[in-house]
Amino acid sequence: MTSATPASSESGCASSAARRPFDPGALLFGGDYNPDQWPREIWEEDIELMTRARVNTVTLTVFSWSRLEPTEGIYDFAWLDDAIAMLTQAGVGFFLSTPTASPPPWFSLAHPDAMPVRPDGTVLSHGSRDTYAISAPAYREACRRIARALAERYGAHPGLRGWHVHNEYGTLDHGPHAARAFRRWLRERYGTVEALNEAWTTAFWSQRYSSFDEVRPPLATQYLDNPSHAVDFRRFASDEMLAAMCEQRDEIRATGSTAPITTNFMLPTWNHLEQWAWAEQQDVVSVDHYLDTAGPDGEAHVAYGSDLTRSWAGGEPWVLMEQNARGIITADRTYAKTPSRMLRNSLGYIARGSQTAMFFQWRASTGGAEQWHGALVPHAGGDDELFAPVVELGRILEAISEVTAPPTDGILHHADVGILWHADSWWTLETPSMPHDGLPYREEVRAAHRSFWHAGIATDFVRPGADASRYRLLVVPALIAMSTKTAAWLRDYVEAGGRLVVTYLSALTDENQRVGLGGYPAVLRELLGITVSELLPLAPEEAVHLEDGSRASEWVERVRLADASALTSYRDGPVAGRPAVTSVARGRGTAVYLSARLVQEDRDALLMAQAQEAGIGPVLPGASGLGVEAVRRRGATADYLFLLHHGQGDVIVRGEGTELVSGARTADGVRLDAGGVAVVRVERAAGLEVAPA
Ligand code: GLA
Repeated sequence: MTSATPASSESGCASSAARRPFDPGALLFGGDYNPDQWPREIWEEDIELMTRARVNTVTLTVFSWSRLEPTEGIYDFAWLDDAIAMLTQAGVGFFLSTPTASPPPWFSLAHPDAMPVRPDGTVLSHGSRDTYAISAPAYREACRRIARALAERYGAHPGLRGWHVHNEYGTLDHGPHAARAFRRWLRERYGTVEALNEAWTTAFWSQRYSSFDEVRPPLATQYLDNPSHAVDFRRFASDEMLAAMCEQRDEIRATGSTAPITTNFMLPTWNHLEQWAWAEQQDVVSVDHYLDTAGPDGEAHVAYGSDLTRSWAGGEPWVLMEQNARGIITADRTYAKTPSRMLRNSLGYIARGSQTAMFFQWRASTGGAEQWHGALVPHAGGDDELFAPVVELGRILEAISEVTAPPTDGILHHADVGILWHADSWWTLETPSMPHDGLPYREEVRAAHRSFWHAGIATDFVRPGADASRYRLLVVPALIAMSTKTAAWLRDYVEAGGRLVVTYLSALTDENQRVGLGGYPAVLRELLGITVSELLPLAPEEAVHLEDGSRASEWVERVRLADASALTSYRDGPVAGRPAVTSVARGRGTAVYLSARLVQEDRDALLMAQAQEAGIGPVLPGASGLGVEAVRRRGATADYLFLLHHGQGDVIVRGEGTELVSGARTADGVRLDAGGVAVVRVERAAGLEVAPA
């Protein structure tokens, strides 16, 4: 990245510094490495195993604060100096973390006010990790100090690949420090308390504030929260954490360290950040990604996480900071990863723009809270058969390393489909007083993305208001909180020739969770040529059919046509005979509305019909029908077709190109076994054929 980082007015996290390029020159392979948790003889074995597996990068000190600063202001860097020297000698580079996600016991004892407070008033105590009050001055100061100390010592080290600030920001605090900062944030957003009262509809239930000083973070209360209050608090929390991240970034930069800076986002199930604003403040975007679903849907999940991250990164290369190597066994996750899946997933992230295959963690811990979490080196040790796939992955990553060189025009991926994403709608749908508690934003967005994944069609995610002119099809799933500005932007998109598909649960409110009068979706009615007068969540077992044979569950709506026409109508259910899917021409484009929550298969068919209308086809025709995921990553002088065989039955790949894993020419046909991977260098825009073996 070379562009200047824009000042973010939303975040209060302005920076005028130019972004530092992240150009590792090779695929980075490795994971979180915690030498401070192991005796020295294990370090030696680690180096031997890393060399065997061609590991070239580790992430250090993610949770090492109590070892680095055992007493306030007294640092112990000797062990880290030794570890870095040993790694450097073996040719292993490192991301260096500021360890601020886990303050040491001395900090928590000295600063009880810096402990986070839950909405019910419970003050959390030391004993786990991520236990800090983000707005507490003592915490912020301690973070800046340790960040600077690390940067002064290691900022110019030749092995330093980048700074990894904090780890997965996301602890929400409802205590007094947060209250003060929240009020400041509200003053800046609304200017007057009258404007806040208006935005939050405080006339309802006697919530009118006379001054900002009366406002508190959402706390445990008798019944439902005010949704606008709840969502503003989430926005504030994201901005507050971003400001904390920026402070550390600026401390690091102030030492003269030129290594690129990132902080790892976390997918998939919780989201406390507004990622578009955060991405602007980093040199490179990174993410931790753990599967939350089994079977082929897990592979679709890899694609979803990767497309999101690349899009947050402005389409540029990004960093997969963590994935799991094999089974995770924790309280809430138990998804196994076979060696074949680990390989396909790793290449799946890289196909979609990652410059790395990094894992949590290098070596499985013997104790501590995550002792049963899979790792690259299992408890059984590096000589066990479980380590062989790690060595094989290292070999493959080295063989395909040329893919990291980005194209000169900067377009890593060519996608004709854009899907709208904004955290505001995640948070709005999470508030308990919305029309349906069982349809989380992430599931709605994923359902749309999954349809294109099933068909092998490339997709990007799009920030509301961004330049969408390169997308022939724009899909808006469940963007429940929509401003008139976003609605106007969608209208411009359509009038300029775009094809827009908006789903149910979109634009039900404005950006302040207020409903517009005259029917839903208020700000989009005119563009879509329809009015929705009634929202009809279905009972869990209820199924509704459409005239074209599609099935819906969970959600339908009473739709009235204005100047749109019905593509299909409800055959049965509470609104039988009414339009279900509508379409209208506007300017040079088309606006389509889907009012029913179609089952996945029927949603796939609807979105594929729309893609076809827009002239959009798959990356490699025929591949997905054979269970082969095909992704085109554009490189400096050639394209790379990644073929990930998630299905059954071997296939043959044919066409002009070179398969990088085996070195074979594909002109004569290369066999791809079920579960296998191929990465084929082809001429720019050239295709291949995939057929059953
Ligand atoms: C997160 C953290 C890691 C580890 C993994 C476990 O991503 O960053 O430290 O706890 O989860 O899956």
